[in-house]
Amino acid sequence: MPLTITPLSDVLAAEATGIDLSEPLDDDAGETLNQAFNGHAVLCVRDQHLDPGQYVAAASLFGEPVQQVNRYSRFPEFPEIGILTGDTKDSRGERIINGATWHTDHSFTAQPPLGTILYAVVIPDKGGATSFCDMRAAYAALDDDMKKRVDGLKAVHAYESSRSPRRMAPRTEEEVTETPNVEHPLVRKHPRTGGRALYMSTTRLERIVDMDREESNALVDELLAHATQPKFVYDHEWRTGDMLIWDNRCTMHHANGDYPIEEKRLMHRIMIEGEIPV
Ligand code: OGA
Ligand code: MN
Repeated sequence: MPLTITPLSDVLAAEATGIDLSEPLDDDAGETLNQAFNGHAVLCVRDQHLDPGQYVAAASLFGEPVQQVNRYSRFPEFPEIGILTGDTKDSRGERIINGATWHTDHSFTAQPPLGTILYAVVIPDKGGATSFCDMRAAYAALDDDMKKRVDGLKAVHAYESSRSPRRMAPRTEEEVTETPNVEHPLVRKHPRTGGRALYMSTTRLERIVDMDREESNALVDELLAHATQPKFVYDHEWRTGDMLIWDNRCTMHHANGDYPIEEKRLMHRIMIEGEIPV
């Protein structure tokens, strides 16, 4: 079967079939996958069987894998691969879901990963989808006055914004000093396509630079509500063997913890080194 790219929704995301990433690829296939990734912002390669070494090699098609920050949930011999489970429970026995509200990964860092990859190892029978919204389409749909207003603005991103609807994992003192707040443009230019996209997060975006708090909150709330309308959203229902990469530069995503408490969900996660946002 030849390598085939098929859109998964009208707004963003495509699937790739007819390719086995456990084998060395020719340059054409790598190019086709990267074009599909740049065009669709979310690319799901179906039906993969990857051991950790093969997974790191497959991820490298999209750039340089970076080490996972959380030292306790990664493969000792493959520090690029994080292990993502829903096994952690809170004091009431409820599952702790990381990433349950709209965000883009690691925007609190100066050089956030360009993409994040999840490889679906164990998938619950129902629920546990990942939702994505298209920040390119959201930006494009703003009226001209709003585009003028947001172009050129900068936003402060923090490890845990005072606006955040959820609490982030605590950091050590060393990690706190290593991760001061950063400023990023509110509208980002994609380095590959040149397209513009809103760059935001419910958990990290603290405020707009040089704007008073009330005005900043109102603008951020309005833009987030706009960007996360159903018409900009694709919900990915996972299949075992999906290796899916999303573009952190022009999408937001969130996890859905709506699968039965006794069911397992296991993902292997790799982040790809990014650029300083401009
Ligand atoms: C992540 C994330 C969502 C999910 O890994 O960064 O937000 O559905 N995951 O697991
Ligand atoms: Mn995430």
